[in-house]
Amino acid sequence: MAEIGTDLTYAKTLLSQGELVAIPTETVYGLAANALQPDAVLKIFQVKNRPQFDPLIVHVASLSQAYELVETIPSAAEKLMHQFWPGPITLVLKKKALIPDLVTAGLDTVGIRCPDHPLTRQLLAKMEFPLAAPSANPFGYISPTQPEHVNQQLGNKIKYILDGGPSRVGLESTIVGFEQGPVIYRLGGLTQEEIEQVIGPVRVELNTSSNPVAPGQLKSHYAPRKKLVVKKVEDMGSLPARTGVLVFQQYVESIDPSRQVMLSATGNLAEAAKNLFAALRTLDAMDIDTILAEPVPEVDLGRAINDRLRRAAAE
Ligand code: TXA
Ligand code: MG
Repeated sequence: MAEIGTDLTYAKTLLSQGELVAIPTETVYGLAANALQPDAVLKIFQVKNRPQFDPLIVHVASLSQAYELVETIPSAAEKLMHQFWPGPITLVLKKKALIPDLVTAGLDTVGIRCPDHPLTRQLLAKMEFPLAAPSANPFGYISPTQPEHVNQQLGNKIKYILDGGPSRVGLESTIVGFEQGPVIYRLGGLTQEEIEQVIGPVRVELNTSSNPVAPGQLKSHYAPRKKLVVKKVEDMGSLPARTGVLVFQQYVESIDPSRQVMLSATGNLAEAAKNLFAALRTLDAMDIDTILAEPVPEVDLGRAINDRLRRAAAE
């Protein structure tokens, strides 16, 4: 198992030696490596069992570090950076040659974000290079929002997990590109509504193909090992035996409460987002065969939550 702790000096030493370190962010835990060193980045793909066509996000300490990595920044991107960084939004921008092709899967753009977590911000400020980091889970599985989640699945493959407690947002960053105007490639921790308040209308082009051109938005993703169905209990007719249920804000009376996990008793979407991935893990570990997940209201963060549930359910 990996060591879990808050030793920034040790984390820096490992990363400087080209090793991987799991880092906390406000969205989910990341599996970090020196973004400018292909040998180090390659280890990320190996440890996660991730196909190399799926590009990584580069994490920076500040806006000025982002400027060093990209060619041009459209004015809409600049507005978003100033308004929301550090925070749960990734910007896809034209990359400079110093970013290795392995990071971007050969694309001429790179996804960049400045994460909002005190420990990781301190770490980034100490580093002489940016950190490439995908979510710290085996490819295709549920993203980790606690150090223990990382340890359960990657603990025998990495040395160190920086402990920043549970992730505050609980959903990955929203990914925004700028091709013929701003476009959302992945719904996430910052809502479309919040983005549109700053730059006006944006297109939403969520990739659902199984071999995505640019954004590695695979149709099947974020998935538990058990079969998952997204539907309201009341629309189900009869429930299959040995089913566990993920409910939004109210338990279903006809079902044993020990087989239900609730996302937010007050119906708060931010709280539901924060709890989502841990809840799916809890259900995945139960002695059941099927997980039934009730969709949440399709507004604000609810859109990103439902998007994750649908991808988790996809074959
Ligand atoms: O919140 C997050 O974004 C977390 C934390 C650790 O920062 N990271 C994360 O990384 O979710 P990952 O690897 O699980 O998802 C990265 C996704 C890719 O699958 C792809 O959809 C998109 O970012 N991406 C990266 N570079 C891109 C590019 N140049 N063009 C389009 N999409 C890109
Ligand atoms: Mg991921």
